[in-house]
Amino acid sequence: MLLAFDDELERAERLAAAAALPLARIARHRFPDGELKLTLPVQLPPRTVLLRTLAQPNEKLVELLLAAHTARELGAQHLTLVAPYLAYMRQDVAFAPGEAVSQRIVGAFLAGLFDRVITVDPHLHRIDDLRAAIPIAEAIALSAAPAIGAFLRSRCAGALLLGPDQEAEQWVRAAAAAGGFDWACARKTRHGDRDVAIELPALNLRGRAVVLLDDMASTGTTLARAARQLLGAGAARVDVAVTHGLFVGDALAALRAAGVSQVWSADTVAHPTNAIAVLPLLAQALAQ
Ligand code: R5P
Repeated sequence: MLLAFDDELERAERLAAAAALPLARIARHRFPDGELKLTLPVQLPPRTVLLRTLAQPNEKLVELLLAAHTARELGAQHLTLVAPYLAYMRQDVAFAPGEAVSQRIVGAFLAGLFDRVITVDPHLHRIDDLRAAIPIAEAIALSAAPAIGAFLRSRCAGALLLGPDQEAEQWVRAAAAAGGFDWACARKTRHGDRDVAIELPALNLRGRAVVLLDDMASTGTTLARAARQLLGAGAARVDVAVTHGLFVGDALAALRAAGVSQVWSADTVAHPTNAIAVLPLLAQALAQ
């Protein structure tokens, strides 16, 4: 059985159909003081799957805590979390003394609740296996990068795929291989939430169409800065493709203002830019 919350029902219906699973809804009530009450179906099968994408994650982590414990009380013996976007993966070390290493903490939290976690392009930088972040045997990271590369092939033939930082190399390389593109990566130094410096690769960009490709766009600062510099260096046009389009606040407007033409995202987080479906990947992983 696939369990889903109201605000993800449309995606849940498609996933349930593709994976041939019965779908049931988790009802959510918010008390005046902000606390949550969840109500699950009263009888769950031994193998139960919960769908929750973790954009704007803080409250959703409490939902997972309540839902997972309740699911086990109601009969679930093997519990899978399908989180198309997995939050808190970027803080993978303490960059300054005293900082919480969120990746490790949230990973251990999820490992304590679920037997299997399936996600798409988690931000793994200094580790290459999701099991190092979520210490369970079945921590499964799928990638939208090949699907993004295939999607771009018919739209941007001949373009250069550019990662805005070195961390993006894993996704850019895979997308380029799938779509038959040249690729490169810039270097990024982050000075603050909305303050980054980008060093473009030493390439002749004059007249070149460039697709900026990254695992996620949050404030859009990284991509907007890279786009401005690319156009300043003579690029003919700049488009953007990301797996996770978080696009907080005015991120999309910032990209447009920076001269970006098209913006495409995979549908791990619901957004008007969604153009690449990850659902088949998730359904296939569930079937396996
Ligand atoms: C971090 O390295 C990620 O890959 C993204 O580049 C980053 O999260 C984008 O954040 P923003 O859109 O706020 O610049």
